[in-house]
Amino acid sequence: MRVDLVVVGAGLFGLTVAEQAAERGLDVAVVDRRDHPGGNAWSETDPETGIEVHRYGAHLFHTSNERVWEYVNRFTGFTAYQHRVWTVHGGEVYPLPINLGTLNQFFRSNHGPDEARRLVAEQAAELMGEPRNLEEKAVSLIGRPLYEAFIRDYTAKQWQTDPRDLPAEVISRLPVRYTYDNRYFNDRYEGLPTDGYAAWLSRMADHPRISVHLGTDFLDGDHALSRDAVRGQVPVVYTGPVDRYFGDAHGALGWRTLDFEREVLPVGDFQGAPVMNYADGDVDFTRILEFRHFHPERDYRADRTVIVRERSRSAGPGDEPYYPVNTPEDRSRLLAYRELVEQERASGVAFGGRLGTYQYLDMHMAIASALRLVDDLDELVHGRGTV
Ligand code: FDA
Repeated sequence: MRVDLVVVGAGLFGLTVAEQAAERGLDVAVVDRRDHPGGNAWSETDPETGIEVHRYGAHLFHTSNERVWEYVNRFTGFTAYQHRVWTVHGGEVYPLPINLGTLNQFFRSNHGPDEARRLVAEQAAELMGEPRNLEEKAVSLIGRPLYEAFIRDYTAKQWQTDPRDLPAEVISRLPVRYTYDNRYFNDRYEGLPTDGYAAWLSRMADHPRISVHLGTDFLDGDHALSRDAVRGQVPVVYTGPVDRYFGDAHGALGWRTLDFEREVLPVGDFQGAPVMNYADGDVDFTRILEFRHFHPERDYRADRTVIVRERSRSAGPGDEPYYPVNTPEDRSRLLAYRELVEQERASGVAFGGRLGTYQYLDMHMAIASALRLVDDLDELVHGRGTV
């Protein structure tokens, strides 16, 4: 086998690099330890209902980046889906993000924008001085009543930690909209891939110059496309976990993971919306996704639906890493890893993607950053080794 570039990880970052490198005439091998391409954006058809389910949690595509929008449209069309979320608190359903509708329902009022702004500012003035923890920060942003209803218990469930024991920096802002607009995203473009994520992501890899090697762990030394066989011989773009690449030399970086509990119910519609959060502490999950609502344009069967309950916890060894925890200790470890990453460049290895850089990236951000890396590909591929 002769390849000019090895891409580790068939997520959106790796696939974008591979596809663009192939378009530039390079032969690319993509390895992924999972049994499917597409990384966390992968979806599958539920066998009992035919409903598309996002295997690693709800994935809503949105971007204002023209280059990314033009790029993704080469592989898929997008539906007109617009994301909206509701939350249950105290036996009532409220719209999110907190907006004028949420406020007026919660305070049993009919405030206009200015009155509502004044009310929230008054309640937020309860705490003066530098917030010492997440609770104080949240109260200083939106006041105690809204914090206790919509943020406190939900945050405690997400982090499995009392918000008074979480650092204030975990949140920088809590958006309150003084209109009735409850669209979740503000981006210019939004939608879901018309014929699903699996079709989109598979098309990106479907190129005569790309070979995809699934079920293949790059860090396992026993095959022709492993780090031991490839490093220093051929350029590599690595999108796996940065700490694992270096054998956890500076310690493991902290992640949160999610547990998904999938259930098929014998009803046509369970909750009337794609996402229902559960804000209160007496329910142990954070939200329920009902996947049929992501594609109202599809002709799904009317007597069955698929729901997924989500629970959040800190990731242990063997768990899927989803959200970086980013404690001060994690940040200092990351700086140490960045030095090693810099040194690896001399062996032709570049790091990218959410795991390779230890940061949460939305899909459009992963694609944008991969397109930027491809702009510099010549530098990485200088000398053009082959294996
Ligand atoms: P990604 O994790 O997708 O791919 C990395 C790949 O590398 C994986 O397939 C993995 O198996 C492989 N790999 C790792 N180590 C390896 C090794 N040693 N050898 C071989 N392969 C290896 N974004 C958005 O825009 N809208 C949304 O609604 C959501 N929703 C969402 C929900 C949840 C729960 C999460 C965790 C994330 C989102 N995202 C999102 C973010 C989205 O998932 C993210 O942008 C992409 O996954 C980024 O793609 P990457 O290629 O960087 O990583």
